[in-house]
Amino acid sequence: MEVGILGGTGPAGSGLAARLAAAGLQVAIGSRSKDRAQEIVTGLLERWPGRELALSAADNAMAAEAEVIVVATPWEAAAATAGSVAAQLEGKVVISMANALTRMGHEFEPLVPPRGSVAAHVQSAVPGALVAAAFQHLPAKALSNLDEPVESDVLIASDHPAAFEATARLVSLIPDLRPLNAGSVANAAPIEAFTAVLLQLNVRYKTRAALRLTGIELPQ
Ligand SMILES: NC(=O)c1ccc[n+]([C@@H]2O[C@H](COP(=O)([O-])OP(=O)(O)OC[C@H]3O[C@@H](n4cnc5c(N)ncnc54)[C@H](OP(=O)(O)O)[C@@H]3O)[C@@H](O)[C@H]2O)c1
Repeated sequence: MEVGILGGTGPAGSGLAARLAAAGLQVAIGSRSKDRAQEIVTGLLERWPGRELALSAADNAMAAEAEVIVVATPWEAAAATAGSVAAQLEGKVVISMANALTRMGHEFEPLVPPRGSVAAHVQSAVPGALVAAAFQHLPAKALSNLDEPVESDVLIASDHPAAFEATARLVSLIPDLRPLNAGSVANAAPIEAFTAVLLQLNVRYKTRAALRLTGIELPQ
C-alpha cells in the first residue's frame, strides 16, 4: 500500500512517514516544494542507513495520488491543502492528524476551528473523501526514533466505517500502537483538544506522554 503525506516535511509527517516505511509501506512525502521533500527524504535515509525505507519525495499533488492520504500541515492549512487536491482525494481515505492549538505563555490551549474540529473542516473541504481523525496524540520525536517503540493507543474518529478500517490497519502495522474506534467525526473535537492536555503534562513532568486507556480488551 502507498501512503501519501501532505505537508509531510514537518516533524509530525516525516516521523509518521519513517514509521510507516519501517513497517514496510511505500510512503510519498509531500510538500509545497518537491525539493524540500527530497531534502527530508535524503535526511531520513541518511539517519537510518541500515533500514530499507521505501520513501519518495513528492509535491502535495503527487502525494495525493497515493491510496491513503495523511494531512500533516499546521491546522490552519489542513482544509485548504486537502481542498487544493480534492479531485485526487475523491473516494479515498484521508487521515487528518492536525491539532488546533495555541500557546498562551507557558500553557497550551485548544482552539475551535471552523466546523468544530480540523478533521471536520478537512471533510467539508473534500466532501467526496472518507476523512478520519487519527495520530493526534503521538509525539513526533517518538515517531521518528525508529530505534525505540512508540507505545500508545490511537483514537480514530470518522463518519465512514471504511476509513476507520483502513486507518486501523495502518495503525496496527506499527508495533505497540493500538487502534481504537472513538466514534464519528464529531468526536474529533475532543480528541484534537486533548492534545493540549498532553502537551501540558509534557511540560509539567518534563516527559513525552502518550495515551494508553485501561479496561478495553480487543478481540485477537
Ligand atoms: N509535532 C508533533 O509532535 C505532532 C504530533 C501529532 C500531531 N501533530 C499535528 O500534525 C501537524 C503537523 O505538525 P508539525 O509539527 O510537523 O508541523 P509543521 O512543521 O509546522 O508543518 C508541517 C508542514 O506543513 C507544511 N506547511 C506549513 N505551512 C503551510 C501552509 N500555510 N500551507 C500548506 N502547507 C504548509 C510545511 O511543509 P512544506 O513547506 O514542505 O510544504 C511544513 O513542513 C500539526 O497540525 C500538528 O498539530 C503534531
